[in-house]
Amino acid sequence: MRIQWRQELTTGNSEVDQQHHEMFDTIEQLICACKERKAKGEILPLLSYLKRYVRNHFSCEESYQSEHGVPHQREHQEEHRSFIRQLERLESDYSREGASLPVVTNSLMLTYEWLTGHIMKSDLEMARVAHGSQRADSVQTAH
Ligand SMILES: [Fe+2]
Repeated sequence: MRIQWRQELTTGNSEVDQQHHEMFDTIEQLICACKERKAKGEILPLLSYLKRYVRNHFSCEESYQSEHGVPHQREHQEEHRSFIRQLERLESDYSREGASLPVVTNSLMLTYEWLTGHIMKSDLEMARVAHGSQRADSVQTAH
């Protein structure tokens, strides 16, 4: 399995895209480490990366949604809050048991499911609607 960011995942917001790109690279790195049985050493850097990610990325995306009047913002933001809760659970498991097998497995599942279930679905839908609203704005100003 190869995790690679692709052009069709572009949201049109360069900051959001850059952060998504980094998330893909991080997950790819974690998968490679798992294959080489070196994942334990990746968990602490992963958790610090994810803490930065939720702090910077979610506020960036949520401002983007407000600027473009994207519908279903509350549902989308609830997915962000849910990710934060899962991350907090993972952090507390890590502080209790270190990079145990369940912690490594749950880290991989959390990030992979986030990528396929949120970035590749909810975020793309957000971008599709935002682009639609940009096109509608330009049509309106053209009249
Ligand atoms: Fe999002």
